[in-house]
Amino acid sequence: MAGPPGSGKTALALGISQELGSKVPFCPMVGSEVYSSEVKKTEVLMENFRRAIGLRIKENKEVTELSPEETESMTGGYGKSISHVIIGLKTVKGTKQLKLDPTIYDALIKEKVAVGDVIYIEGNSGAVKRVGRSDAYATEFDLEAEEYVPLPKGEVHKKKEIVQDVTLHDLDAANARPQGGQDILSLMGQMMKPRKTEITDKLRQEINKVVNRYIDEGVAELVPGVLFIDEVHMLDMECFSYLNRALESSLSPIVIFATNRGICNVRGTDMSSPHGIPVDLLDRLVIIRTQNYDVADMIKILALRANVEDLVVDDESLAYLGVIAQRASLRHAVQLLSPASIVAKTNGRDRICKGDIEEVSALYLDAKSSARLLQEQQEKYIS
Ligand SMILES: Nc1ncnc2c1ncn2[C@@H]1O[C@H](COP(=O)(O)OP(=O)(O)O)[C@@H](O)[C@H]1O
Ligand SMILES: [Mg+2]
Repeated sequence: MAGPPGSGKTALALGISQELGSKVPFCPMVGSEVYSSEVKKTEVLMENFRRAIGLRIKENKEVTELSPEETESMTGGYGKSISHVIIGLKTVKGTKQLKLDPTIYDALIKEKVAVGDVIYIEGNSGAVKRVGRSDAYATEFDLEAEEYVPLPKGEVHKKKEIVQDVTLHDLDAANARPQGGQDILSLMGQMMKPRKTEITDKLRQEINKVVNRYIDEGVAELVPGVLFIDEVHMLDMECFSYLNRALESSLSPIVIFATNRGICNVRGTDMSSPHGIPVDLLDRLVIIRTQNYDVADMIKILALRANVEDLVVDDESLAYLGVIAQRASLRHAVQLLSPASIVAKTNGRDRICKGDIEEVSALYLDAKSSARLLQEQQEKYIS
């Protein structure tokens, strides 16, 4: 996606991620991220690539699906340890109290399980997964980011096909740093001295092998997701060469780049290229042009934004904000909304009116006006 600043590239990416839902991986990153850590640049790219590739694994396992009624832990204070955990479980067919191993307690904490949630516990590994909130609680709050699920129907003990959505990076991380109580690997980890492990290329190759075998056997299904690299012109030649190669691998996600650059140098070289992207990579892309919004669109977006932030803005103010957006930038106009609402409240109003906007737009400058002012008053500043 190529277009001037403020033409909605990042907003489009957010929209895509919402549309994909939680089952398809979406990994957003900003080009400059590759320089911000102590890790090699290509390592950052590789990790994000693997975050954007999903695997849907189907397994049949003995599980106990439940809705904990109450948990009673023997946590106690300092120095004491948990000897066991008691959970009250409920399905449509009945209730049951289970006395469980303390490792389950850690898993319950990690999954932030509370009374009224539907969870399952995997019989052989003791892994706990939170499925969602029981729909009996669905009317608790008006607005929630919860997924409501019905109370489990069968017996408290039952077999169930579990579908797990993981990314390749999850698999890398799980195998590099086995964590408490989830599988045999971790048991070994607990017995051995804790060692510093990290994700290596060798580990990734091994994981790829297993993944490919799972896919061949029909146990797992590949879910290619989306890797979104914003401000892609921040990447340098080394990164671009790496991307060129990675895009050809069979385990590759869909990659979206966004840039607001015209013809400029590829970072770190004196080679000039459209969008700051080397031509051989550019050659493989389809380019979507994003264009500046017109006033009507900007007013629509401002109204949306006000709505999301629960602000009441009258039409006259919206139109005036539209003018500001056109003169300065859409982003600047959006940023004036919340100070304007504070001014309105201070004056005892719930509704933002044009005067409030005028007041705050006199207080806050946008980048362009500030630069103009600097030029006009150059002699007053130290340079
Ligand atoms: N379609 C849209 N719906 C809602 N808000 C939008 C939309 N397009 C742009 N915006 C808002 O306009 C501003 C600029 O858009 P942005 O996506 O950041 O531009 P770009 O990434 O192209 O520089 C942001 O505050 C963004 O939230
Ligand atoms: Mg952007």
